[in-house]
Amino acid sequence: MAAGSCSTVRGKILVTGGTGQVGGELAKTLAPLGEIVVPGRAEMDLSHADSVRAAIRDAQPRWIVNAAAYTAVDKAESEPELAYAINAEAVRAIGEEAQLIGAGVIHFSTDYVFDGTGSAPYLETDTTSPVSVYGASKLAGEQALAGSGVPHMIFRTSWVYGAQGKNFLRTILKLAREREVLRVVGDQHGAPTWSRDLAKMAAHVIVQCEAAAEGRPLADALAETIGVYHAGGGGETTWHGFAAEAVRLVRERDPEVQLATIEAIKTSEYPTPAKRPANSRLNCDKLGRRFGWSMMDWHESLRQVLAEL
Ligand SMILES: NC(=O)c1ccc[n+]([C@@H]2O[C@H](COP(=O)([O-])OP(=O)(O)OC[C@H]3O[C@@H](n4cnc5c(N)ncnc54)[C@H](OP(=O)(O)O)[C@@H]3O)[C@@H](O)[C@H]2O)c1
Repeated sequence: MAAGSCSTVRGKILVTGGTGQVGGELAKTLAPLGEIVVPGRAEMDLSHADSVRAAIRDAQPRWIVNAAAYTAVDKAESEPELAYAINAEAVRAIGEEAQLIGAGVIHFSTDYVFDGTGSAPYLETDTTSPVSVYGASKLAGEQALAGSGVPHMIFRTSWVYGAQGKNFLRTILKLAREREVLRVVGDQHGAPTWSRDLAKMAAHVIVQCEAAAEGRPLADALAETIGVYHAGGGGETTWHGFAAEAVRLVRERDPEVQLATIEAIKTSEYPTPAKRPANSRLNCDKLGRRFGWSMMDWHESLRQVLAEL
C-alpha cells in the first residue's frame, strides 16, 4: 500500500493489529500520509518478542503505531502470561527496536489502568491501580515503553466500538433482535469511543509531529510531546445508557423492528471473571491543549456508526 510522491511522513508507518477495530481503521486512515506496512500475526507475532524485533528490523519504519493487544478482558484472568507477553513484553521490544532506528511510537492503552474508585474523570497524572490482569498488563506495557527511552505517545482510550469487529454495540444489537429483555450493567460509568475517531486522532497527531520535525530529527520534535494522553469519546454514559440509546436510535429509524427492552442491572448482578472499574471516565483536556483535538461525542459517533451498519 504505497503512497504518492508527496507523502506527509518521510518513511514507513508500521501499523500492528490491522485485523482489529482500531488497527483496521488506522490502516485506512493513515494510508494517505505515506507508505503503510501492516504485518499480520504470521509476520509479527506479539506473543514472541523475537518476532516483533525481526519485523521492525525488516520494515525499518519511521513510525510504529501499535494497535495490537490482548483485549479479552475476562480471559486474561486465566491467561496472564499471554496477556503480559502481548501487552507488555512486545511493547518493550517495540520501544527498544524503535529507539535503535530512531522511529517514533504511538501506542494505545486503556481506562482499565484505573481502579474506578474516583468520582471525577481521570487525569493522565492520576494514580493508576488496575483491578484486572488485562489492566495490569496494559499498565506494564505503558511502563515498558516509557522505560525503553523511545520517543512515544500513549493514548489511553475506553469502550472502543465501530461498525466492524467484536464490540459491545454489535453484540447488543444482535441480542436485542433475539430476545425480549436485555439486562445491562448500569453502574459502570465511561465513554464509548469510535475506532475511526481514534484513527483520525492518530493521523492528526502524526501530521503535527511531522510538521514539527521539519529540518530536524523526528526524535527532537517528539521530545516535546512524549507521554500519556487520554483519548476517550466525548460525554459519558453507562453500558446500559449506551445500549438503550443504540436501541432507541434503531427503533427511530425502523419503527417496525422488534427489539428487546433494555433493563439496568448492577455489576454485582452480572459477575464476570475480571473486575471492571465503576468509573472509567477520562479527562481528555490534555489532548485538546497539546494537539488541538477533541474526541467525538459518543452520541454523534453512535449515529454515524449505526448509519454504517
Ligand atoms: N476494545 C476496547 O474496548 C478497548 C478499550 C480500551 C483500550 N483499548 C485498547 O485499544 C487498542 C486497540 O484495541 P481494539 O479494540 O482495536 O482490539 P481488537 O479489535 O481486539 O484487536 C486486537 C488486535 O491485536 C491483534 N493481536 C492480538 N494478539 C496478537 C499477537 N499475538 N500477534 C499479533 N497480533 C495480535 C489481533 O490480531 P488477530 O486478529 O490475529 O487476533 C487484532 O488485530 C488496544 O491497545 C486495546 O488495549 C481497547
